[in-house]
Amino acid sequence: MLTDEQKETLVQTALDARQWAYAPYSNYPVSAALLTESGKIYDGVNIENAAYPSAMCAERVAVFKAVSAGEKKFEAIAVVTRDAGSPCGQCRQVLSEFGLDTLVLIADGGGKIRREHVLRDFLPDAFGPSNLGR
Ligand code: THU
Repeated sequence: MLTDEQKETLVQTALDARQWAYAPYSNYPVSAALLTESGKIYDGVNIENAAYPSAMCAERVAVFKAVSAGEKKFEAIAVVTRDAGSPCGQCRQVLSEFGLDTLVLIADGGGKIRREHVLRDFLPDAFGPSNLGR
């Protein structure tokens, strides 16, 4: 369970990171902040590319930063877009690898949380590590 204060901190961290989004093609900046069980927060932004499919979403940047720092247990992720857009399917899948109980907070450009659900609700009947005997 996250306190309201923890939720606010997470959303604020995502809002602060938003300035670093590199989205010259879509003009749709996305930022994320991922809280680990150890209490650290990893932020991420979308990073686009002139070769369009080479772009990477904000949520996955945050997850990859955390995992590459040795963190694999996540409490929550906040995602900020101008219209409180939902995480894409690939980001849901990548997050699901590390647990379906992660809380997903979806906020708008003003930092207002518009929706929040555990990942399990965003990705029902997920394919995961157990399918491969892990
Ligand atoms: N985007 C994200 O960063 N996360 C999502 O979950 C959905 C989409 C980015 C990718 C691209 O840079 C821009 O938003 C428009 O699709």
